[in-house]
Amino acid sequence: MSVPLLDLTRQYQPLREEFREVLDRVCDSQRFILGPEVDAFETEAACALGVAHAVGVTSGTDALLEALMALDIGPGDEVVVPTFTFFATAGVVTRLGATPVFADIDPVDFCIDPQRLADCIGPATRAVVPVHLFGQSADMDGVLEAAGSVPVLEDCAQAWGADCDGRQVGSMGVMGAFSFFPSKNLGCFGDGGLITTGDPELNRKLRELRVHGQSGVYEHPLVGGNFRIDALQAAVLRVKLPHVDGWIEGRRANADRYRRLFADAGLEGTVGLPRAVAGRGHTFNQYVVRVPKRDALRAFLTERGIGAAVYYPLPLHLQPCFAALGYHQGDFPVSEQASGEVLALPVFPELTEDEQHEVVGAIAEFYGA
Ligand SMILES: Cc1ncc(COP(=O)(O)O)c(C=O)c1O
Repeated sequence: MSVPLLDLTRQYQPLREEFREVLDRVCDSQRFILGPEVDAFETEAACALGVAHAVGVTSGTDALLEALMALDIGPGDEVVVPTFTFFATAGVVTRLGATPVFADIDPVDFCIDPQRLADCIGPATRAVVPVHLFGQSADMDGVLEAAGSVPVLEDCAQAWGADCDGRQVGSMGVMGAFSFFPSKNLGCFGDGGLITTGDPELNRKLRELRVHGQSGVYEHPLVGGNFRIDALQAAVLRVKLPHVDGWIEGRRANADRYRRLFADAGLEGTVGLPRAVAGRGHTFNQYVVRVPKRDALRAFLTERGIGAAVYYPLPLHLQPCFAALGYHQGDFPVSEQASGEVLALPVFPELTEDEQHEVVGAIAEFYGA
C-alpha cells in the first residue's frame, strides 16, 4: 500500500459542492479585488485567532515582508531569526536591505531558543522573528522577555490554531504572519496569507502598504506593494475556516496513534517522536521525527511508496546566498544536528489507521525491529 505525505483531495471531496457555490458567487459578482469576501474573511479570521485586526495578503512570504515594511526595517537594521526555518523567514529581511542575524533553536520544540536569541540582541536590532515551527508555538514568554522593547513579529506560517498558555499564535507579538499555502492546516487554492495585529495604527499602515502605500485615490504617503489576497482565495478560506479545528484534532489523534504504534513496534529508543511542550498545543502541520540513518530511511520509504520529507536539510546560516554574512559549520550545533536527523511523516487528518500501520511497519522493517 502506498501512503502519500499529504492528500488534499480527501479534504476537498466532501466540501466540493460548497467550494463550487462560493467560487460561482465570486465569479457572478465579478468582484475579484478586495471587496465583501475579503472583508468577511478578515473579520472571521480575526475572531478565530482572537486578534483585533487581520489583513489578508498575497502569501505568507509577503505577510512577513509587509509586516517588516510596516516596522520600517531597512539598510543598517538587524533582524534576529532562527537559522532552522523555511527560507522566507530570513529572505524577506535581506530583500529589505537589512541583515538577518541567526540564532540557534531549542532541541525539543525546534523553535528559536530564547537564551540564544538574547545573545543576538544588539544596538542595531530592530525586530525579532520567532517561528512557530511544524505547528507548535515557540516559547513566547522567553522570546518576549529576551526581545525586551524590540518588536516581535511571529512567523505563524505553519501554526494556525497553535497556542502558548492559552494565547493564540499571532496574538502575542506586535504582528503575526500566516500562510495559506495549500499544504498548511488552513490552506487555500493557491497562494494566500494574513497579517494579524492588535495595534490600530499598524492595521491602518498595513492596509495602505498592501495597495502601494496608497492612503486616498492616487495619494501615496508610503511606498508599498501589491499585497492583496484574492477574493477567490478568501471565499475558499471562508468555507474551510469552520472545519480547521476538527482537522487539527484529526492530526492530533494521528500523532497519538503514531505514539502507540511506535511503542508497540519497540521503536521508542530509535525514533525520536515529536513532543508537545506543556501548555503549548501542537497542531502537527508536520509530524517530524528524529532518526538515525535518515537519508537511507527516506530512500527506503520512497521505494515503498511512502511519502516522507526533510524540513530542512540545510540551516539558513549555511545557505550559499548568506555566505557573505560570515557564518560557518559548527556555529549553530542544535540546528545542524536537527538538519541531519529530521524526517516528516504523513499526518494529514484523513490518514487512515491502516496507512499509519503501513508507515510504522516499514520503519520497523528498516531498523530490523
Ligand atoms: C515558516 C514559514 N515562513 C514563511 C513561509 C512562507 O509562506 P508562503 O509559502 O505562503 O509564502 C512558509 C511557507 O512554507 C513557512 O513555512
